[in-house]
Amino acid sequence: MSNAEDPLKPEDPYPRVKALRDTMRAEGVPDSVPIVMAGGVWFLREWDNWIDNPELGSIAFQFGTRPLLTEESPIPQAWKDHLRTLEPGDVLLHRFSPTGFYSSAVKNPFLRKLEDRSERQIPYSKVQAGEHTVQLDVGVRGKNFWVAPRDLERARGWVAAGYTDGLRTPDDTIVFVAPGERAEIQQDQKDCMGCLSHCGFSSWKDHDDYTTGRLADPRSFCIQKTLQDIAHGGPIDENLMFAGHAAYRFKQDPFYSNNFTPSVKQLVDRILTGD
Ligand SMILES: Cc1cc2nc3c(=O)[nH]c(=O)nc-3n(C[C@H](O)[C@H](O)[C@H](O)COP(=O)(O)O)c2cc1C
Ligand code: SF4
Repeated sequence: MSNAEDPLKPEDPYPRVKALRDTMRAEGVPDSVPIVMAGGVWFLREWDNWIDNPELGSIAFQFGTRPLLTEESPIPQAWKDHLRTLEPGDVLLHRFSPTGFYSSAVKNPFLRKLEDRSERQIPYSKVQAGEHTVQLDVGVRGKNFWVAPRDLERARGWVAAGYTDGLRTPDDTIVFVAPGERAEIQQDQKDCMGCLSHCGFSSWKDHDDYTTGRLADPRSFCIQKTLQDIAHGGPIDENLMFAGHAAYRFKQDPFYSNNFTPSVKQLVDRILTGD
């Protein structure tokens, strides 16, 4: 899914993939070049009409979530255990990723904290304009923060609740965070090792002048730090737990009952039977 699309308006993938194949054919790409159906595939039997279908040409299926729960999967045991407990709705498609793309992950305390941080957000302008008729007097230094009166009240409420520090975002808004959170955000930005070509969280860009030219976004996070941490045994509540939206099927699929964890070979054999 590209950033131009709306995840709240899901579309049937079949007509889209067919349209893609039509375009490929019109450009002379042979049908032997597969189109990879990536995301949300669990039982192959649910995709029967995609396989050996002359309308679509060759199709490959990519699995990201199911291989997480295999013997060979290197993720920590706590992450594997948690996958078995997920219910529909426990995975969130979100926009907090510093890559700027939609990203899907288990709705754990780490993700909820990012949701809450974005909730504690108000727009401002540097001059008095439109609705922005009062000056923000909490969370920020300086007087050049004009906000709507109702947002001033909200900001005062957050500060009273301990979210005392206002941080500017690249979208002319301010988010309110606790001092400890602010310190962590700033430390993570200082520790940036430039893993992305364009990073929303640090302003890093890997060429030209090495900056995206945008303010580092405190609503995002360092994906490098969090993935390193969770992969090496860090707490599963405080890090990003990547998972596709179909992860709740671990709990429902009898293949995994009695705590069974397949090897990769057993998983692939199982998928080939359609299950
Ligand atoms: C643990 C994990 C790590 C992933 N890492 C990447 C990645 O580095 N780059 C990427 O494009 N997609 C990544 N994905 C997304 C998978 O490509 C996507 O999940 C895949 O298309 C299969 O869909 P599924 O997870 O519904 O099986 C990751 C998914 C998971 C679950
Ligand atoms: S190391 Fe972290 S902050 Fe730096 S580019 Fe990568 S994700 Fe962004």
